[in-house]
Amino acid sequence: MGEIIVDLQGIVKTYQTGEVSVPVLKGIDLRIDAGEHVAIMGKSGAGKSTLMNIVGCLDRPTAGDYVLAGHPVSRLEDDELSGIRGKTIGFVFQSFHLLGSMTVMENVALPMEYQNVPTAQRHARATELLERVGLGHRLGHRPNQLSGGERQRVAIARSLSNRPKLLLADEPTGNLDSAGTRKILALFAELQAESGFTMIVVTHDPAIGNAAPRLVRVADGLIVEDRR
Ligand SMILES: Nc1ncnc2c1ncn2[C@@H]1O[C@H](COP(=O)(O)OP(=O)(O)OP(=O)(O)O)[C@@H](O)[C@H]1O
Ligand SMILES: [Mg+2]
Repeated sequence: MGEIIVDLQGIVKTYQTGEVSVPVLKGIDLRIDAGEHVAIMGKSGAGKSTLMNIVGCLDRPTAGDYVLAGHPVSRLEDDELSGIRGKTIGFVFQSFHLLGSMTVMENVALPMEYQNVPTAQRHARATELLERVGLGHRLGHRPNQLSGGERQRVAIARSLSNRPKLLLADEPTGNLDSAGTRKILALFAELQAESGFTMIVVTHDPAIGNAAPRLVRVADGLIVEDRR
């Protein structure tokens, strides 16, 4: 049996907006082995991004337990949590979250800077990743000088810069055409073969979901299908 990298038990997330509680996750149990590739599908509003934010340690569950690579993260302090996050997780956000004041190259190099990777190494790796996503000619551009699909590819390059053990991607190809989507999926597969990371990808594209080795379907805050 492989190492369990993500172990979620009874995860509940309820948002409080004024007087109203909004239950979004209603008891999620999910175990993912190191090296697995999991696709997550579900209707808009089902709770996919909320789940990804919890798995990515960007948000905490209202109730339930989360053990990430052996660390019981539900009980960690914020600084311990961000330490584990920075070393372990690469995140491609649904809305990119690129920093507008930095160049493409600086955005991709930033997670490595937080891990104190020396400058020359940072730049070499950022350049290599940007070349692999087809943006070697845009290193000095700022995000607002790029198309939507190009920004998405910068976010993908950034998510890989720290060689994460766990790559979380929320609709990573939502702004790409079918040729761009194929290229990015091929790149993910190539990098996963090289370094064996675990990958969780949210997608609306049934072709991507059906091709994944494991498909988890979320509806109304619950897992309704888990097929390997
Ligand atoms: N901070 C918040 N406060 C209150 N409600 C929220 C908050 N964040 C999300 N929600 C609600 O939680 C539900 C799930 O949101 P979530 O972003 O997880 O959906 P999703 O499955 O990722 O949808 P999509 O496919 O559109 O990205 C939505 O109904 C949303 O309105
Ligand atoms: Mg979402």
